[in-house]
Amino acid sequence: MSPNSNGIALRTRGRQNTMAYITTPIYYVNDKPHIGHAYTTTLCDIWARSMRARGEDVFFLTGTDEHGLKVEKSARERGISPQELADENASEFRKVMDLFGLTYDDFIRTTQDRHVNQVQTAVTRLLESGDVYLGEFEGWYDEGQEEYHTETKAKELEYKSPISQKPLVRATQTNYFFRLSAYQERLEKLFDERPDFVKPGARRNEVLGRLRGGLQDVPITRTNFEWGIPFPGDEEHVIYVWIDALMNYATGVGMCESPLGERSKYWPADYHVIGKEILWFHAVIWPAVLMALELEQPGCIYAHSFWISEGQKMSKSLGNFIDLEQLQNYMDSYGQDSLRYFLATQGPLGATDSDFSRSHFHETYTTDLVNTIGNCASRTSAMIGKYCDGLCPKDSGVLVGDDVDWRVFTKERVDASLDSMKDFDLAGAIAEAMKIVRQVDNFINDTEPFKLAKNPESSERVNDILYRCAEAIRIACCLLEPVMPTRMESLRTTWNLGDAKRRRSVRNAIWGRLQEGTGIEKVALFPRVEFTESPE
Ligand code: MSP
Repeated sequence: MSPNSNGIALRTRGRQNTMAYITTPIYYVNDKPHIGHAYTTTLCDIWARSMRARGEDVFFLTGTDEHGLKVEKSARERGISPQELADENASEFRKVMDLFGLTYDDFIRTTQDRHVNQVQTAVTRLLESGDVYLGEFEGWYDEGQEEYHTETKAKELEYKSPISQKPLVRATQTNYFFRLSAYQERLEKLFDERPDFVKPGARRNEVLGRLRGGLQDVPITRTNFEWGIPFPGDEEHVIYVWIDALMNYATGVGMCESPLGERSKYWPADYHVIGKEILWFHAVIWPAVLMALELEQPGCIYAHSFWISEGQKMSKSLGNFIDLEQLQNYMDSYGQDSLRYFLATQGPLGATDSDFSRSHFHETYTTDLVNTIGNCASRTSAMIGKYCDGLCPKDSGVLVGDDVDWRVFTKERVDASLDSMKDFDLAGAIAEAMKIVRQVDNFINDTEPFKLAKNPESSERVNDILYRCAEAIRIACCLLEPVMPTRMESLRTTWNLGDAKRRRSVRNAIWGRLQEGTGIEKVALFPRVEFTESPE
């Protein structure tokens, strides 16, 4: 590390490649948590668990965005202080984390001293370097979003907030500005050189189009409210909530501490995972701020699309958010893992929105979890119980029927699954594991060990088949563990699959590790659930 011109230590060498860093957006405390927040955080959790299972040292950061006019207003309406409101709702967000079994390493809150101090340090440095300056601004202001729009943009929006539909108001302010316009060329270069900097591709193209349209400097302070981080040296101004919020990715790992915090070793993030509505801030403003601070760019900004609910956009006016209570109801009926699985496989990770409907959820649960994985594991263990005294049989290595080469087949699936996971294609990674399970199912149907078992002369063949089924399921289980940690844990326990240290590694997903003689008890992973129209 060497200090840059701003005095912030600059990472000159690449980060060790056994480290990984992933972040979620930090969530606004003026709203209650819902499926959208749970979704982004669950995706990150699955990725983090999967990287840990490979033996990487992962840092997974989430948290809450607690400043701004909206929080100040909501608190006033309720007759409590903004901090009280923030405390109350930050704990609601933590409940989501617990409900979904999310293994974040830190939960940052923008009202914490560590964040406030580092933001002030960073802004001071930007002021010193000339990237932040005092200027006049007249523009169209979206009061709900606390965002200014240029004339061109406001016209495009028909002078209405794209979120609340309320009219934009004409406003003039003396503000501190960030010299975004100075970074146009460097940003375009970044996009050109790193085609995967923003994913999915369709989103990248949208941002790039807007970026090529030109950049204006952005006001980064406000004087119309108080609930924010005071601007260093001019306390009439508070720092704009978006700059404050984006900085959490750096302050969470101590990048603006002096000396650098111990966690700075994780910098930069591999993924900033966000929803599509906040892409501009993440793909343009944030990289420019990092350039100004001379900090290394993240690996990828992944902007997923939105969940809609039973065919309709979720909104306050419709009151149709899938909230904590409903999520709890789903969990009670179907279990935590089934929700995690559904979010990861059926969710809007690409450029189109996904519908969260009760019937689709039920169907996915029944088809994939009850009828496929659950059934396969239970059939296999029941037959091992019946024909092999509950002990894992020996594989003689002789080919049975049209059998695949299981060693090669599973290796290909494992490699493909891990590659997809690394690229944040969670559904693709899971699909590879499911291919293994489906192959087992077909294998049982084709070879019919339950019929062969009637003839004592076929016992070796039955053993071969059942070893292969159990071993393939064990390997699929290694891949599915980050997605469904609870149910896979229960499979491991019932099948006596290795000690805690070994099982944490997907390096164990290698054919032949299952030992002959291992006690394999009958397992019921996913109970059948009766469909009801509503959770109540
Ligand atoms: N505080 C800002 C983010 C600052 S990050 C430096 C913010 N917060 S938010 O509470 O509104 O959360 C927005 C995020 O919640 C989205 O980016 C997305 O991750 C998630 N979702 C909110 N609604 C969603 C859906 N309907 N569907 C999927 N995820 C969405 O913006």
